[in-house]
Amino acid sequence: MAVQRTLAKASSTLLRISAILFFRFAHFPTVTFTLFAVYVPTFLATYFTKPKLVVLEDRTAASIEEVTAKPDTPLVTEEGVAVEAEPEVIVQESRIEEAIVLGDKDAKPLKILLWGAPSATKLGASALTFLINTMLVALTLDALYRARFLYPVDDLSFVRLGYVSPTEAKFLIREPDQAQMPVTLQIHIKDAQAPFDNPLWQTAGGINWTDNQTDFSGVLTVPLTHSKQRTYEWRTSNNHTGEFLAPPAAGHMPEYHGGKYTFLSTSCILPRFPYNPFDHALAIPGLRHLANKLPELGAQFMLFLGDFIYVDVPERFGVSAAEYRMQYRQVYASPDWAPVAQNLSWIHVLDDHEISNDWSSGQTGVYNAAVEPWHIYQGDLNPPKSRVPGTTTYRRENATWYEFTQGPAAFFMMDTRSYRSSNDLPFDDMEKTMLGSDQLDDFLAWLNRPMPRGVKWRFVASSIPFTKNWPVNVQDTWGGFLVERKRILEAMWDAGARGTTVVVLSGDRHEFAATKFPPPEGSRWADTAAAYEFSTSPLNQFASPVPSYKQTDEEDIKLNYIPSGSSKFGAFTIENIAGESALQYRLRGKSMVPYLTNQAERIHQEEFINRWETCGRAAVRKGDWKIAFIPKPKGPEKWQLHDLSKYPGEVHDLADKEPARLQALIKLWDQYVLETGVIPLSPELGE
Ligand SMILES: *[C@@H]1O[C@H](CO)[C@@H](O)[C@H](O)[C@H]1NC(C)=O
Ligand SMILES: *[C@@H]1O[C@H](CO)[C@@H](O)[C@H](O)[C@H]1NC(C)=O
Ligand SMILES: *[C@@H]1O[C@H](CO)[C@@H](O)[C@H](O)[C@H]1NC(C)=O
Ligand SMILES: *[C@@H]1O[C@H](CO)[C@@H](O)[C@H](O)[C@H]1NC(C)=O
Ligand SMILES: *[C@@H]1O[C@H](CO)[C@@H](O)[C@H](O)[C@H]1NC(C)=O
Repeated sequence: MAVQRTLAKASSTLLRISAILFFRFAHFPTVTFTLFAVYVPTFLATYFTKPKLVVLEDRTAASIEEVTAKPDTPLVTEEGVAVEAEPEVIVQESRIEEAIVLGDKDAKPLKILLWGAPSATKLGASALTFLINTMLVALTLDALYRARFLYPVDDLSFVRLGYVSPTEAKFLIREPDQAQMPVTLQIHIKDAQAPFDNPLWQTAGGINWTDNQTDFSGVLTVPLTHSKQRTYEWRTSNNHTGEFLAPPAAGHMPEYHGGKYTFLSTSCILPRFPYNPFDHALAIPGLRHLANKLPELGAQFMLFLGDFIYVDVPERFGVSAAEYRMQYRQVYASPDWAPVAQNLSWIHVLDDHEISNDWSSGQTGVYNAAVEPWHIYQGDLNPPKSRVPGTTTYRRENATWYEFTQGPAAFFMMDTRSYRSSNDLPFDDMEKTMLGSDQLDDFLAWLNRPMPRGVKWRFVASSIPFTKNWPVNVQDTWGGFLVERKRILEAMWDAGARGTTVVVLSGDRHEFAATKFPPPEGSRWADTAAAYEFSTSPLNQFASPVPSYKQTDEEDIKLNYIPSGSSKFGAFTIENIAGESALQYRLRGKSMVPYLTNQAERIHQEEFINRWETCGRAAVRKGDWKIAFIPKPKGPEKWQLHDLSKYPGEVHDLADKEPARLQALIKLWDQYVLETGVIPLSPELGE
């Protein structure tokens, strides 16, 4: 009997923990179900077994009473003579009373609710505790199955914008309803400038039919009529609409957004996470926060670094192409999708959860079932395939890696999953490859290729981190492919030395980190040839529960590291400042303390901006200059300006000597206050 109760308590407690862990980390739902299978019989057995009665209370009361004893009958002597009664005798009589209370010691309602084991004497509490566990299981089932069963979205009709070059735009049109055919797309210049621009709507093409071969979708490539940057509006005959801004031509800075060129990058979308039972079954909360920030960013596109679907998290339900197709449809059918995509181009690299966790099995197993839908929904809308080295026009047939150049930047989008050697080979194996020989050739040739004047940056999209500063599961990252990494680094330094700084964009880790890869000291490269990496994720996934990034040597230098935040993305902005091209990186996050959300970094000339404030104090640092505001009585309660290169101790206030610089930095502070909503300067809060 005690065994049942112990089992009921143990399974109940573990069930509650496992359910919370599932809602928090989206893993191991079957543990919850297994525990429930143990819980139900042990709960019933405990309930229907006669409770073991134990002594709950044992009260003894002792009392002493004085009583007078008097002979009731006259005493008679042996001879029969009556004698006179003796006087009364006082005797003491002691009395002991014992009261024993028997009962079920597990019948306290709070204990029942806490431990989950019932008591026959407390029906209400027992039923409630059972209900709590049943609810947790029901919610877990809901999180796992509702979308599968109620939202396979076979009938999804949608149009999304893929890659946009200065001369054409790619659209994906999914329309299963043949009654809508042909679906045509019309486009026009929204901001037509008189007298030469034509503002009229023009039909740019369409699709005449769709079938199951491509999951009822097709790609439409639309030429852009104007040679200069313009905003285009489009609409389709099945009532989808949107707009986009064509990018600046290679080597030119934008004519829009104050001459700033911006794009976004992040990775990892696990739908319906964090779990909220009141959300739509296809909700992706992280997209809402992206949608809120989009209008102010003026971004050219989103470069998504993989794990757009999680085919095997929390649970793998199938290995067929149909399973993969459904998961793409479900993201595109999410009510949170349109607000981040109606007016934004998305381009994609492939990562493991689009195939299977930590995928390093090449093109075997589920690979083909996985990449067929990936091509339909993602790859076919990507930028052009890589160029064959040594040619100017040939694109590599069947390549799943891509390249393009626009504005001040060139991009190479890697496929780190389809061609890599097994993760289990030794890290320093000479033959071990991440990219495979064709892709590596193309990539090295791209790094080596001269770029148009005005292209100052080369961005490399890698789904997994380039740095080896993430020791956990490092064999799945470039940290496990050190020979090829070294070869690539040297080519990156060469490119840097020739005037285009290489910046790797990665995701995967559910954390943010900025890393610098300086050339070795005393090598043929100067420090200015250094390469950089910004790793930003997730857009909608759990944040790493423990910080896991650590600098271990002088090869991978930590610049910044922020582990928290279950929804974040990076905004890269390139602008010309005083004749120099500068790259600013802004990390935007939702569930992070405000001060972290606007980490802005410029990596040209090591110029970083930091802003922070605590308790009425405030400071902004940009390069060697810092302004600080310290309230009375510790400080003068006005902005002070310090040149840290000359006076690191911050003793000389140069505010009066350099008013322009002071104002520029105060402007940065104001912008920060505006963007983050931190408490503005309030001296009364100071210590
Ligand atoms: C669709 O049909 C029209 C008219 O029948 C034809 O002109 C057009 O070329 C077709 N488009 C495609 C993509 O097949
Ligand atoms: C559509 O294609 C998928 C994947 O190729 C296949 O599994 C499914 O059975 C097909 N459905 C129909 C209705 O033909
Ligand atoms: C598109 O919208 C118009 C106007 O609201 C409506 O008349 C038309 O039926 C819609 N077409 C489709 C295919 O939904
Ligand atoms: C996209 O742009 C159109 C204007 O063409 C606007 O009406 C619409 O609200 C925008 N959509 C989003 C999600 O911002
Ligand atoms: C590209 O793929 C097609 C279809 O799978 C195949 O026939 C062709 O040989 C491939 N080309 C190359 C260069 O591998």
